[in-house]
Amino acid sequence: MKNIFQENTARLLAEAFRAAYPGQIEALIQTLPSNAADLESFIYSRLEVPKDRKLGDFAFPAFSAAASLKEKPVEIAQKVVAQLTPDRFTATGPYINATLAVPDMARMVLPMIHGQGAAFGSQTIGQDRKIVIDYSSPNIAKPFGVGHLRSTAIGHSLYRIFAKLGYCSIGINHLGDWGTQFGKMIVAYRKWGNDAELAKEPIKYLYDLYVRFHQQEELDSSLSDDARLWFKKLEDGDPEAVRLWKLFRDYSQAEFQRIYDILGIKFDYYTGESFYNDRIEVVMERLRRAGLVTESQGAQVVDLEPYGMPACLLKKADGATLYATRELAGIFYRYETFDFYRALYVVGSAQQEHFKQVFKVIELLGEPFADRLVHVEFGWIRFKDQAMSTRKGNIIFLEDVITTAEEKAAQIIRDKNPDLPNLDQTARMVALGAILFADLGVKKHKDVNFSWEEVLNFEGETGPYLQYTHARLSALMRRFGKPIDETVDFNLFTSPEEKELLLHLYRFGQTVETASDRYEPNYIAEYLLELAVVFNRFYQRKDAHGKLIKIISERKNETEARMLLVEAVRTVLNEGLRLLGIPAPEEM
Ligand code: ARG
Repeated sequence: MKNIFQENTARLLAEAFRAAYPGQIEALIQTLPSNAADLESFIYSRLEVPKDRKLGDFAFPAFSAAASLKEKPVEIAQKVVAQLTPDRFTATGPYINATLAVPDMARMVLPMIHGQGAAFGSQTIGQDRKIVIDYSSPNIAKPFGVGHLRSTAIGHSLYRIFAKLGYCSIGINHLGDWGTQFGKMIVAYRKWGNDAELAKEPIKYLYDLYVRFHQQEELDSSLSDDARLWFKKLEDGDPEAVRLWKLFRDYSQAEFQRIYDILGIKFDYYTGESFYNDRIEVVMERLRRAGLVTESQGAQVVDLEPYGMPACLLKKADGATLYATRELAGIFYRYETFDFYRALYVVGSAQQEHFKQVFKVIELLGEPFADRLVHVEFGWIRFKDQAMSTRKGNIIFLEDVITTAEEKAAQIIRDKNPDLPNLDQTARMVALGAILFADLGVKKHKDVNFSWEEVLNFEGETGPYLQYTHARLSALMRRFGKPIDETVDFNLFTSPEEKELLLHLYRFGQTVETASDRYEPNYIAEYLLELAVVFNRFYQRKDAHGKLIKIISERKNETEARMLLVEAVRTVLNEGLRLLGIPAPEEM
């Protein structure tokens, strides 16, 4: 794994140093002879990690200041250091090195995490501005497949990340509950459907009808015409069409709700495509007034050729609306309702063109919020080289994936820990950890190659590995059995492993911010993997005789100090998992 956490270590250490030793960096700034206008950012931009870490945590090269002053760097370094607090700064050649002592670092970081608990890493930079997040958004009368899982996982995580930073997150499920496919469903149902069968296993039944329709359509093209006709009837409010559509929708919603409950995912609004039906005309009027609507073979479109894109289809020749028409209505509705700071659309890369088109149309209308729309796109998920297509019928049902994961997780847990109470409950948590982390453990633009062996590996870079680490930390806390006290002897923290761990804890807040800036929960996933690795290095520390240093021992002071650190790691791991939407078991 390429480690992004090494990239800005010097800067982070400087920030930690500044927090631990108020006034020291300021003193450096004042002492340094320089004619840089903004000396503070000048210093920060030139920090380095010393080649030999024993020399210090970060180094400021005096020659970067000397270049303009025509003084000898070695002399500057010595002169400056002589005026600063001894021990904190030393001069080595042309470098001014700074060292953050481990006890001071612990004294700064640990009481902060102990005091703030889950709020550690939270910020108010969002100032309550609204972030509207469109995620999951499956299509009704079709099964909830793994294809929609990624949007669900990423969107829900972004929801929590933005909320942690003080934004007001608003979650919208833009259910695919309108469109020509309902014409097809109605035709198929009227031809082959049966209420009793539908009631038994509604989604699978509707799905079979859908697949059957597409197979038959290839042999008999009149079916396509019927479907178009029935969709038009639906749009015109034909009672029979509306009755069937409602039937499909109610069954689908109940089914989706069950899955969201399993996943522990909520939305603030379930406003599907049909919600915008009576808002279409206003949008059409707006577009017409702006002179953007043209006719093309009877259809109404916005010509986007000058921008190198295919035309954005608004209405078919028979007047039927399209996905893009409803999207545009949705954008206006969201803006008018929420006055959003950003509107995110967490949808796969397959719809890149669609979003480029509708965002362009908003821009052409001259709307001031055009640059607040973001398509948060992501790659495919594949199960052993099998791509998913609903039409051909080789979809993988999310619920089947969850059930399989639960069975496999239960098996692994039974082998490891046969006496575990609440095995089923824990197996479900681990199953969700495995599945969600499969999606979030990979940068979103990359494809996910899902394999059971990988996602359920308790020792790999997986959700269950993080959950297992969390359970081990919780077990330590139970074994300790007393409330954790923050007044420990901080001078007992001395090792490089402890320093590394403290530093990584300290960078949690910054990581959450990066995740929000880039709309990328994966930064948190990687952070947590690194946290687990660094913690294990501390956990497996040996003394000078090669003996394992136990966290809990007869030595009261050492035990209490280490337990304060254990609690901090557990707090941050727990909170990080929560931001990913992954449950954190106490035991497994
Ligand atoms: N229902 C669509 C699909 O399954 C996704 C909708 C995404 N959201 C949106 N506002 N277009 O492909």
